[in-house]
Amino acid sequence: MNYSLIKHIHMTAAGLSILLFVVRAYWSVTCSTRLQARTIKIVPHIIDTVLLVAGIMLAAVIGPEQPWILAKIVGVLLYIGVGTVAIKRGKTPKTRAIAAVVAVAIFVYIIGIALNHNPMSWFS
Ligand code: HEM
Repeated sequence: MNYSLIKHIHMTAAGLSILLFVVRAYWSVTCSTRLQARTIKIVPHIIDTVLLVAGIMLAAVIGPEQPWILAKIVGVLLYIGVGTVAIKRGKTPKTRAIAAVVAVAIFVYIIGIALNHNPMSWFS
């Protein structure tokens, strides 16, 4: 598998990840039962795993000890943590809505890190 293919898989998984996150967060905030569907519980995990594994493979090729890659790893952990508040752990719809907005902001920040190869993201 060449680098460019892995990178495309990584970016496609990133796109699907945020798309599915926004849909699930919406269902979570509106207390929709669709959130309980079996597929909706499984597919996002598969996509997020692909995103992570592809990212780790890319990092292994270009050398992981770069500040922007470390920043991405921290970012992705925050995205997952805040994301679970938005979809699962938040007690009220308001808490879940705020967590959802924060998670999307973290995601946008990570995209900025990826494009600029800089932990300062869009502010670099
Ligand atoms: C929410 C999580 C993530 C998102 C949205 C994301 C997004 C992206 C995007 C859009 C690119 C393409 C950048 C370009 O066009 O140059 C990219 C590249 C890359 N990502 Fe991620 N990424 C995420 C997580 C990770 C993680 C966790 C790692 C490492 C463990 C990682 C490592 C890399 C590497 C090494 C590249 C290649 C950069 C290059 O060749 O220029 N990513 N990522």
